[in-house]
Amino acid sequence: MTSLFDPIKIGDIQLANRIVMAPLTRNRSPGAVPNTLNVTYYEQRASAGLLITEATAITHQGQGYADVPGLYTKEALDGWRQVTGAVHKAGGKIVVQMWHVGRISHTSLQPNGGKPVSASAIQAKSKTYLINEDGTGTFAETSEPRALELVEIPGILEDYRKAARAAIDAGFDGVEIHAANGYLIDQFLRSGSNVRTDQYGGPIENRARFLFEVVDAITREIGEGRTGIRISPVTPANDSSDPDAQALFTYVVEGLAKYKLSYIHIIEGATGGPRDFQQGDKPFDYKALQHAYEKAGGKAAWMTNNGYDRELAIQSVEEGKTDLVAFGKPFIANPDLVQRLKDNAPLNTPDQATFYGGGAKGYTDYPLLEQQVA
Ligand SMILES: Cc1cc2nc3c(=O)[nH]c(=O)nc-3n(C[C@H](O)[C@H](O)[C@H](O)COP(=O)(O)O)c2cc1C
Repeated sequence: MTSLFDPIKIGDIQLANRIVMAPLTRNRSPGAVPNTLNVTYYEQRASAGLLITEATAITHQGQGYADVPGLYTKEALDGWRQVTGAVHKAGGKIVVQMWHVGRISHTSLQPNGGKPVSASAIQAKSKTYLINEDGTGTFAETSEPRALELVEIPGILEDYRKAARAAIDAGFDGVEIHAANGYLIDQFLRSGSNVRTDQYGGPIENRARFLFEVVDAITREIGEGRTGIRISPVTPANDSSDPDAQALFTYVVEGLAKYKLSYIHIIEGATGGPRDFQQGDKPFDYKALQHAYEKAGGKAAWMTNNGYDRELAIQSVEEGKTDLVAFGKPFIANPDLVQRLKDNAPLNTPDQATFYGGGAKGYTDYPLLEQQVA
């Protein structure tokens, strides 16, 4: 029987175990540049089979929150090279989550104070995180976006391609395309944020076109086996909605099955909320989604996330429901989560007040099990 603690090869990437650190935005990279504190944070967590970085903007236009890192300046890439070097030295593997926030942004974060871009000019009922002049953080309403013009889309695909190349050059083992949680790719996918009348709007095939063009741009540049993707079929995060998530995401995974990707990452339910959350009148059938993917010839590793504890993770891998489990909040508070899960040791509780922004407190100062036992 396969165990959560067994090694696995996902595409081109060999992992020591099936425990993954989920992407976690921490707003601790001023100037969009990863720094030595960020190096320490990732290095501390390198015993995970795979680390997925916090969402990382592919361009300035893709930025939506204060002090999140980027992938588009020399300084940021030099910073990331320190992170990947430290993680590799500690025996870990790390991919970067590639992010374009689309409409989940604020004019103050955009180039020349312009409007954020999206599939359509529909403002999200959502908040973003800004830093005030005095250094304190606040949540602010996202700005009204403008709809991307057709002629702009090739430029954004080129941004994804360039960022993927830059990520590999900075030492990452691969990339995760962020197609979840109501950001740009998800804004194209769902009818609640996409009312376009061109080839990127209307029927599912059109709304999914942008996603597949991004996958094409990235896989042609860095290879399919170093590319993973994250989706969140029913999450309401960032004002996401679609009345027929099952049909939409079945189409998406059937299309993804044509690529030899490293993994498909599914957020089950509402991100950070109930696992049984549903949109529309029927519960979402994740098993049917997985079967549709496999029936279409998909061979990538299946990674699941949202509210997993030790028991559910162990059981889900043993029963073959999933190949890998991504943990978010447990990794914030437990740098040595793998050892704690192995030993069935108690977990530290994450401190919500220090999730976003700040310094070492609530970031790199969570104790290891051995420090607590001693
Ligand atoms: C502080 C924080 C930051 C997050 N940042 C991201 C992110 O950058 N990208 C992403 O896809 N999800 C992000 N998420 C969602 C997590 O990856 C994960 O889906 C969620 O926490 C549920 O998993 P868990 O129950 O194991 O924590 C974030 C969650 C938290 C709590």
